[in-house]
Amino acid sequence: MYDNPLTKRQTLTQEVKFSARGVNVFYGDSHAIKGVDVDIEDKTVTAFIGPSGCGKSTFLRCLNRMNDTIDVCRVEGRITLDGEDIYDPRVDPVQLRARVGMVFQKPNPFPKSIYDNVAYGPKIHGMARSRAELDEIVERALRRGAIWDEVKDRLDAPGTGLSGGQQQRLCIARAVATEPEVLLMDEPCSALDPIATAQVEELIDELRQDYSVVIVTHSMQQAARVSQKTAFFHLGNLVEFGETGQIFTNPRDPRTESYITGRIG
Ligand SMILES: Nc1ncnc2c1ncn2[C@@H]1O[C@H](COP(=O)(O)OP(=O)(O)OP(=O)(O)O)[C@@H](O)[C@H]1O
Ligand SMILES: [Mg+2]
Repeated sequence: MYDNPLTKRQTLTQEVKFSARGVNVFYGDSHAIKGVDVDIEDKTVTAFIGPSGCGKSTFLRCLNRMNDTIDVCRVEGRITLDGEDIYDPRVDPVQLRARVGMVFQKPNPFPKSIYDNVAYGPKIHGMARSRAELDEIVERALRRGAIWDEVKDRLDAPGTGLSGGQQQRLCIARAVATEPEVLLMDEPCSALDPIATAQVEELIDELRQDYSVVIVTHSMQQAARVSQKTAFFHLGNLVEFGETGQIFTNPRDPRTESYITGRIG
């Protein structure tokens, strides 16, 4: 196995969670993702890196069909989750998004209390039989979001009244409350200070025990710290995909090398 000096732990080969083949995405006539093939593994953190506008968010949104909500956007090709085609007309995108949670760059708490932000999903999906069970789910999720201690005495206060970094951790708590199988994170730390960033990175590492995590980041250091696999995108192409240590120390494609050494992007 490749000795990976930059990430804390090595990965063993895991089961494939998402398999994408020949994925193309268009916004009207503009071709944003070009023939992407990739397998994303379970119990692994996969980082998407690449210059602004290369298609990282677009490809991430293919994985839980968030692009469906953009009128001009068209997705072609095949993406399976546990072997099932997620674009099959019989798949309910709402159910899919319960299995494949998402955290956005800009924290977007609901205009509800801190408690209700987290309880909302578990309620809709009938995860709790009593108020006591719901309380437990909410507490566990807020602890996983590394924000419990800061909010436990004001669970009835509005989520929108928290600081930016706290709102982001609340959104992470909300995303994990429904126990998704995959967590998609689009630059989740860009609004966070170094302390909150470290907390979120620790959380991501912990989530990997149970979930597949895909994180878009502009920070090479962050990609190296948290991920085991890295995908480098450039102008809509998936240029290189592999073990994070290999991508950062021994990239095979000159475009990857230029990007990680700061010459493009
Ligand atoms: N809603 C949209 N409508 C039209 N074009 C879009 C839309 N969203 C993205 N695009 C275009 O698709 C391409 C890829 O954009 P995308 O947001 O996926 O890039 P990105 O790699 O996430 O960039 P960044 O690092 O700046 O977030 C860009 O050319 C962008 O302008
Ligand atoms: Mg983006």
